[in-house]
Amino acid sequence: MKVIVKEEAELSRLIAEEFIAQIQKKPNSVLGLATGTSPLGVYANLVKANKEGRVSFKDVKTFNLDEYIGLDGTHPQSYRYFMNVNLFDHLDIKKENTHVLKGVGDYVSYYKQYDEEIAKAGGIDLQILGIGSDGHIAFNEPGTPFDSLTHEAELAESTIVDNSRLFNDISEVPTRAVTMGLKSIMNAKKIVLIATGVNKAKAIKNLLHGNKTEDNPCSILIDHPDCTIYVDKEAYSLSK
Ligand code: F6R
Repeated sequence: MKVIVKEEAELSRLIAEEFIAQIQKKPNSVLGLATGTSPLGVYANLVKANKEGRVSFKDVKTFNLDEYIGLDGTHPQSYRYFMNVNLFDHLDIKKENTHVLKGVGDYVSYYKQYDEEIAKAGGIDLQILGIGSDGHIAFNEPGTPFDSLTHEAELAESTIVDNSRLFNDISEVPTRAVTMGLKSIMNAKKIVLIATGVNKAKAIKNLLHGNKTEDNPCSILIDHPDCTIYVDKEAYSLSK
């Protein structure tokens, strides 16, 4: 695993350049995308590069990591809404090429075919991840089996508390989600993980210096052949 320590704006710029290089090399790339605060700077850089004509998303396909169960894609806190507003609406991407797990309706049959859909598209070329303060990646909380594919998951209490900042009240935070599994994530050809701020310092320490164990879901990344961890000084502060 490679580690890059820089300020947040530079991390976002560097990761965006990884995505741009990937799409320039393979215009029909398959991208794995995350929501949350961590990738916002990356997405802003991608929108800028697309507007400037440096990169086109017209043949790109995307697959998102997760979605809350119970939230429709028009709900402002749903991950489909987040992706549209923060990225897809501003790119020359075809909406039908963007895949976000469903949280309502027949969401079960949709998630059960998700890994197959990804494989049919050729597999994920480049996956971006954030990390939870408890070491989760996507919504794979501590205790998730390493061989998990896309599945339904219960959010950990600490994740509900962390994510409540985006809701009016903690009672509105969904407690369940659909999420790509740890094996689904490991199938990506290349992975970049971004973490900033002191709230992530313990999770990054456990990732870089801890043991590989299902109690620490992100530790599966240790075995990935092409995974880079992008952190700022604060997130790296317990790892030196
Ligand atoms: C979101 C996701 C989550 C977040 C993590 C960190 O799609 O998969 O694992 O990456 O909860 O969230 P932020 O970036 O908001 O700190």
